[in-house]
Amino acid sequence: MLTISSQTINALTCRTACLVLPVFSGKKMSAHAAGELGKLVTTLQKRGDIAGKPGDSLLLPHAGNIAAERLLLVGAGDGKPLTRTQYLSLLNTIADHLHKVKAKDAALLVDEIGVQGRDHAWCAELAARQLANSCYRFDTLKKDKKPAALQKLTWHTSDKKQQKAIDHGLASGRAVAGGMALARELGNLPGNVCTPTYLASQAQQLARGKKNLSVKVLEEKQMRELKMGSLLSVSAGSDEPAKLVILDYKGGAKNAKPVVLVGKGITFDTGGICIKPGAGMEEMKFDMCGAASVLGVMQAIVDLQLPLNVIGMLACAENMPNGRATKPGDIVTSMSGKTIEVINTDAEGRLVLCDALTYAERYEPAAVIDIATLTGACVIALGNHASGLYSNRDELGEQLFDAGLQAEDKAWRMPLWEEYQQQLKSPYADIANVGGRNAGSVTAACFLARFAEKYPWAHLDIAGTAWNSGANKGATGRPVPLLVRFLQSYAHS
Ligand code: BES
Ligand code: MN
Ligand code: ZN
Repeated sequence: MLTISSQTINALTCRTACLVLPVFSGKKMSAHAAGELGKLVTTLQKRGDIAGKPGDSLLLPHAGNIAAERLLLVGAGDGKPLTRTQYLSLLNTIADHLHKVKAKDAALLVDEIGVQGRDHAWCAELAARQLANSCYRFDTLKKDKKPAALQKLTWHTSDKKQQKAIDHGLASGRAVAGGMALARELGNLPGNVCTPTYLASQAQQLARGKKNLSVKVLEEKQMRELKMGSLLSVSAGSDEPAKLVILDYKGGAKNAKPVVLVGKGITFDTGGICIKPGAGMEEMKFDMCGAASVLGVMQAIVDLQLPLNVIGMLACAENMPNGRATKPGDIVTSMSGKTIEVINTDAEGRLVLCDALTYAERYEPAAVIDIATLTGACVIALGNHASGLYSNRDELGEQLFDAGLQAEDKAWRMPLWEEYQQQLKSPYADIANVGGRNAGSVTAACFLARFAEKYPWAHLDIAGTAWNSGANKGATGRPVPLLVRFLQSYAHS
């Protein structure tokens, strides 16, 4: 994994595979560009090789009298703080160049670049996270593996007062990227590898050797005893047994109420008897990204040893059609005692989550947050930029919303108004599992809300944000950044 640290860097004498230096578009010259370097930058600007606008970049494979092997110049605008989007794309540009030349290490002299409304520590954190994240490759199942060459990053800071905050930011960024890499890896693995059993074993592996993280796996037999008829109705048509995986992190005071995270872990969603069309169905291997993000968050908070208690639950099952599969119209009894008419077997996420939410009651949680690739309707509503955010407590909803903004992993609040509940009426059972085409993401959340009445609860619909389709298809690791940010704020409040 990428080593990231901060120190005072001298641009002329620093030995590195690539020195990264800002170029400003106006009169301003980087304070690091002393002597020779300053002359070089001025010449390049005069010649028109780089103007210095945000988005500009120029890699010099060799640069005169400096000790660094290469010099990467990045446009930083006129010296005024960048927008957050400009800063993120600047980080991506740096990552692209470093990977293209297979640089083994890099020294970043970008401390003069500010971002609107954000401090230096935030800039350092995002840089660490984005660059570490850019090193992830999904080649686990390929014969030829091409790991990223980048091993080491050094972030320049000369400000002793800021050093602690910067180092903290770099450590957070690295831990979050590690959690994202785990979530991405599990998400990318296909359904024939990443089964409920596999997810359970990954949780056990995560806890191995960690003194304040433990794991328990509930098997179908135990779930039957607990009367989780709803969760079990999803795995009924599959040869893969369902698993309810529970991770217990004790970083806080003994009696401090835990935050509970519940992830949807459908390792493949065929739709069941209401089978999905074939085109694009392979993407339903990503239907366990909620559970994967919970594992990613657990890894990050263990790394950072956050001072709080967290329970992570993975509600894992495979949704398949066979002779024993649940059929449309079947009525199942959930652990809460509520009966559910399964109108559509493809609305299976809520069926596994509702029993996990009931189980969460026994932890007397401070808050429960579920994370699920729950509805295609959420993708229609918000696209790929924001996760859908629902909460039965305004304060919790706001905290998660803020965490999303801070972490550049946005969520947008959606309504849970009582009016919508009518869409879930069933003539034969206490509740139906679907509420029609209108407001599909909202009615799915409303369904879950009925099982989360006993504690502060929030729901993140990550159907649009958990993975990319198209050219750069793959799991994104979202919403690990949002959740870690939330837990950091919660731990220090
Ligand atoms: N896992 C899907 C949701 C999904 C679909 C996420 C496409 C991302 C892309 C979920 O289990 C599902 O099938 N939902 C149905 C619900 C419907 C039957 C009420 C949907 O969204 O179509
Ligand atoms: Mn489905
Ligand atoms: Zn699903």
